[in-house]
Amino acid sequence: SKGRVIFSGIQPTGIVHLGNYLGALSNWVTLQNEAGPQDDIIFSIVGWHALTLPQNPKALSASRADMFATLLAFGIDPHKSVVFHQDDNQCHVELSWILSCITPVGKLQRMTTWKSRLATSRNANDESEVDESMLNTGLFTYPVLQAADILAYRATHVPVGEDQTQHLELSRELARSFNLAFDRRKRFFPSPSQLITPCKRVLSLKDPSSKMSKSAPDASSRIMLTDSGAQIERKIKGAVTDSIQGITYDPVNRPGISNLLTLLAACEDAEVDQVALRYERKSNAHLKKDVAEALENLLKGPRGEFERLRQDPEYLSTMAKLGAEKAKTIRRDGGELEASFDFE
Ligand code: ADP
Ligand code: NA
Repeated sequence: SKGRVIFSGIQPTGIVHLGNYLGALSNWVTLQNEAGPQDDIIFSIVGWHALTLPQNPKALSASRADMFATLLAFGIDPHKSVVFHQDDNQCHVELSWILSCITPVGKLQRMTTWKSRLATSRNANDESEVDESMLNTGLFTYPVLQAADILAYRATHVPVGEDQTQHLELSRELARSFNLAFDRRKRFFPSPSQLITPCKRVLSLKDPSSKMSKSAPDASSRIMLTDSGAQIERKIKGAVTDSIQGITYDPVNRPGISNLLTLLAACEDAEVDQVALRYERKSNAHLKKDVAEALENLLKGPRGEFERLRQDPEYLSTMAKLGAEKAKTIRRDGGELEASFDFE
């Protein structure tokens, strides 16, 4: 029997932060490295999705190349995986249109991401008034484009966070609807399942009640791939903790300290409770020094590789071309599928 088809995408958001790496990209690298020879591993930089928000064309173009460099720098191997720009393969938008024609509007209206967009666009004084300039059709239909991203490769597994569960359910429903409507054997699209991975949620260094994010106003709340060792040290030193004596792992009551322990455990590939025990009687300053050092060791290789790749746009575009060619030629069960079509 055939192997798995694993698909995941990331938007071209520019320089990534530690949360992006530990929460998503490190998992991609593991999936790639643990894949069997029968598996197809597909990673897409989904530029079309970025257009749902206002973008500066020049900056977006740079972010697009930077994200490609980032994936390679962290260890995505363009010869092992299919790594490519979504906008280099037209089948995503084509399939998106086809799927949109079998997607009930009500389904999209029930998406929590859409509902929260709608809520933020509502006038505070008059709930029924919506600021329409904040809402475009792309924001409404992007779960369909996401379904197309996945189904275009007839993916069987999709490694995404819990926040994407509802969108993946839509992909499954669209796969089912399509099969029922158009495939005599009712199995053209496999039902993609969510690969829930041990989720490492990295918290803001300045406000450990929220996650580390590219959009938080305080830049010292996040560690970027391009940060120097000195910058990492300064940010970790300034991380919000608490004044309780000793170190314990207690995410509810001590989120700041627990976040630092999580980071150290991730760097050491160790259990967080084990790491916490080692620091039980040590000071916050001691823990911070070790976390900063471990992060520098984790990031310095990828950082150097990222800077090197950025200086080599020709190599990046050659690899992007290779990825796009591979993406276009993925035709699983091609012969059998054509035979199973029945448009009368
Ligand atoms: P941001 O939240 O900074 O805007 P994105 O929304 O662009 O980041 O997320 C890109 C990927 O990184 C997603 O898979 C998301 O789940 C993951 N991610 C982002 N921030 C974190 C974090 N603080 N901890 C763990 N994963 C994160
Ligand atoms: Na986000």
